[in-house]
Amino acid sequence: MAVLSKFNQKVVLVGDGAVGSAYAFALMQQGLAEELVIVDVVKERTEGDALDLEDAQAFTAPKVVRSGDYSDAKDADLVVITAGAPQKPGETRLDLVNKNLKILSSIVKPIVDSGFDGIFVVAANPVDILTYATWKFSGFPKEKVIGSGTSLDTSRLRVALGKKFNVDPRNVEAYILGEHGDSEFAAYAEATIGSKPLLTIAKEQGVSDDELATIEDETRHKAYEIINRKGATYYGVATALMRITRAILRDENAVLPVGAALNGEYGLDDIFIGTPAIINADGLAGVIEIPLSDSEKDQMAKSAETLKQVTKDGLA
Ligand code: NAD
Ligand code: LAC
Repeated sequence: MAVLSKFNQKVVLVGDGAVGSAYAFALMQQGLAEELVIVDVVKERTEGDALDLEDAQAFTAPKVVRSGDYSDAKDADLVVITAGAPQKPGETRLDLVNKNLKILSSIVKPIVDSGFDGIFVVAANPVDILTYATWKFSGFPKEKVIGSGTSLDTSRLRVALGKKFNVDPRNVEAYILGEHGDSEFAAYAEATIGSKPLLTIAKEQGVSDDELATIEDETRHKAYEIINRKGATYYGVATALMRITRAILRDENAVLPVGAALNGEYGLDDIFIGTPAIINADGLAGVIEIPLSDSEKDQMAKSAETLKQVTKDGLA
């Protein structure tokens, strides 16, 4: 059943740390969902955040925002999981796998037991592995489980290309594909600005392949730069999660970069990985398979192999 047909749209957020609280704030600012319930092992924090967010309501739209528990997922449209350890400086996302799989398994089971039959959106890292594990632990259809995937990375790439070519990043159609992590890559071969191939524009403007490779590399490493300076990243991903939430609650059929289950696209299956996909009230309505150059195909295969190996070890 499409969530739009329901009067009350309800989101349960699990994980009220830096990412979760920034997401809750973004949701309130956008006037999305009639009810937001926040769950965390630190109950006092969710109570404090609910009171704090409530103070914004006379300036935005009145909503119900409260601290809750897993039983609140029973009639929720969406459960967003941001609970989990973040990277410390020097750690990779994949280093978090054992810790965060344990946390995830303690979350998904009680949510399913509540009778929840909405859509899971996962952001905790390593997000592609945790999205796959959410699907496995929940027994939900693949379309009902979506990862934030390379949504944040794609935004980072578009912002960087927007600066380089002096255009609004919203008019750059370029994607980061693969793992949300060190093996991700930019799909430059089919990227466009205003429908014109990015590689043609680069040639005309004297932007070299090396410069494009530097932009790709800086995108891949941007999280480390932020974590080294302020200890965590949260505004970018919170906004990406808000955008995915809007596509679901408003049944938009929006094409967004997410962590999607593949069924043969890019020659891959049994994996959740970053790719553009169509998102609506039923979850994942379809994957958009971007045509890749030969070297991009190799990078996609390598990125998938990295994820499959970690998934196999982590879930063994
Ligand atoms: P944080 O430490 O600030 O918050 C984590 C929260 O999870 C804490 O409030 C903690 O109490 C809670 N938590 C821990 N165990 C729990 C459990 N069993 N049940 C319920 N809640 C529990 O961390 P953060 O900076 O908010 O990051 C959260 C996660 O998001 C990390 O894994 C981080 O790597 C990831 N992240 C992902 C992206 C992305 O693009 N996908 C971007 C940034 C961060
Ligand atoms: C990011 C997190 C750390 O900002 O995954 O990319």
